[in-house]
Amino acid sequence: MIRTVSTTPYGDQKPGTSGLRKKVPVFQQPNYAENFIQSVFDALDGFAGKTLVVGGDGRFYNREVIQKVIAMAVANGFGRVVVGQGGILSTPAASNLIRKRKAFGGIILSASHNPGGPHEDFGIKYNAENGGPAPEKLTDAMYAHSKAITAYKIADVSAVDLDKLGTFEVGGMKVEVVDPVADYAELMEKLFDFDALRALFKSGFRMRFDAMHAVTGPYAKEILERRLGAAEGTARNFVPLEDFGGHHPDPNLVHAKHLYDEMMGPNAPDFGAASDGDGDRNLIIGRGIFITPSDSLAMLAANAHLAPGYKSGLKGIARSMPTSGAADRVAEKLGIGMYETPTGWKFFGNLLDAGMATICGEESAGTGSDHVREKDGLWAVLLWLNILAVRGESAKDIASKHWATYGRNYYSRHDYEEVETDRANALVDQLRGKLDSLTGTSVQGMKIASADDFAYHDPVDGSVSKNQGIRILFEGGSRVVFRLSGTGTSGATLRVYIERYEPDPARHGLDTQAALADLIQAAEDIAGIRSHTGRDKPSVIT
Ligand code: G6P
Ligand code: ZN
Repeated sequence: MIRTVSTTPYGDQKPGTSGLRKKVPVFQQPNYAENFIQSVFDALDGFAGKTLVVGGDGRFYNREVIQKVIAMAVANGFGRVVVGQGGILSTPAASNLIRKRKAFGGIILSASHNPGGPHEDFGIKYNAENGGPAPEKLTDAMYAHSKAITAYKIADVSAVDLDKLGTFEVGGMKVEVVDPVADYAELMEKLFDFDALRALFKSGFRMRFDAMHAVTGPYAKEILERRLGAAEGTARNFVPLEDFGGHHPDPNLVHAKHLYDEMMGPNAPDFGAASDGDGDRNLIIGRGIFITPSDSLAMLAANAHLAPGYKSGLKGIARSMPTSGAADRVAEKLGIGMYETPTGWKFFGNLLDAGMATICGEESAGTGSDHVREKDGLWAVLLWLNILAVRGESAKDIASKHWATYGRNYYSRHDYEEVETDRANALVDQLRGKLDSLTGTSVQGMKIASADDFAYHDPVDGSVSKNQGIRILFEGGSRVVFRLSGTGTSGATLRVYIERYEPDPARHGLDTQAALADLIQAAEDIAGIRSHTGRDKPSVIT
């Protein structure tokens, strides 16, 4: 019943920031998914008889690959596979399940916020027993195996009915189909004051949550509407679709513009939020105010003690390097540790496991805490709601008071998508080449205090990650950061992160792009973005 199938390597199975991501037709090539799954298993040690959690964001090809994972888990000797009903598990819910079930690890099928469908994106990532994304050492080993693979093991078992709850025997292994929402909702009830939230909604508080036809739909329906009593219709686009209704399930001001427009409009609800394909990102918009992810991290950290799960305070805060320094000022005031890591949630894992950080966040719409080892979209939404309920103030008031206390970090990210890879690399190479000569010079009348290529020294395991983004730091705390995205599937995406610190409350109401105009021009002067990319403006501004 167990077959060993010979295969030949594909050379392109190198996991990126968040696992292996490719177009669906790439994954549909003969043995392509099987090769990678086997390479994941081959990079692991000691899983015989143990549990593997499997689930995905419901995108096109999800169910097919889940069946392959199950058949290969049987053949490779796992003892049990725990799979979300319908093949559904949000990334944070999968992380929770891995931890709760003390599983050996988990396979999450998702390409996050990238579009789905027969010609769009698919992805496979592995999370370790702490519930977090596989560390680089492990993903490197997976890649090495994928380049040398000669065979994979698969069992001839019939397809498991993923829609039926219960435990089934499959080729001598147990397959348990579980409610994807139940354990996660239970965890949220422990962290947040659900009574206060129920009272908030009962008082007439109106909210909009846009699930973008992605995985958080069922979670939002259950938690916001059923358990917390938010009005029916609070959760929008809540049915997960294989192609996300043809949209990008990316909760930003471009792809969730309708939500933004509603929140800025005359009849805006009190609070608006959205999440991405696999449920780990969040977008927060109060009535009349968009809260940037960097600000959201700072504001959540400053107020987290108002929620039961964090009432004893935070151990520390961590953020990715391109994320604004707003949270640093909160950490300073609280007298707790502040850690600056490379982009990618996996870099927070050690800090969380070691109890050095409680809350983490990234500019890329990710916020989370030590409750799981992934960023968590709905968690961020619920923490905001808990804070709103306790403070009895609007998101806008909370934001302006926050800025008055800590100063405001104006922040924006300019993306140049699908640039030819050679041209993007040339821009980065040229920048690297002149870093040393930049310090002390002036651009647009601003003096460069230092310029470097960010390197991270992990304080827990001592590992060093180099070339994590080019930082140009100006005197007075403004900065521009250049980085190539690690999550794209075609060409290269150049990201330019621009930040200015403004202590003066009289200047906290400016338009962000206007407040950053001279830095935006400085970025162009320093890097020659136009001539390198051939673009005269970014494709996305967030
Ligand atoms: C994924 C990861 C995040 C990371 C983001 C960066 O969403 O889970 O941790 O911040 O990718 O993406 P980028 O395209 O900038 O490499
Ligand atoms: Zn995601």
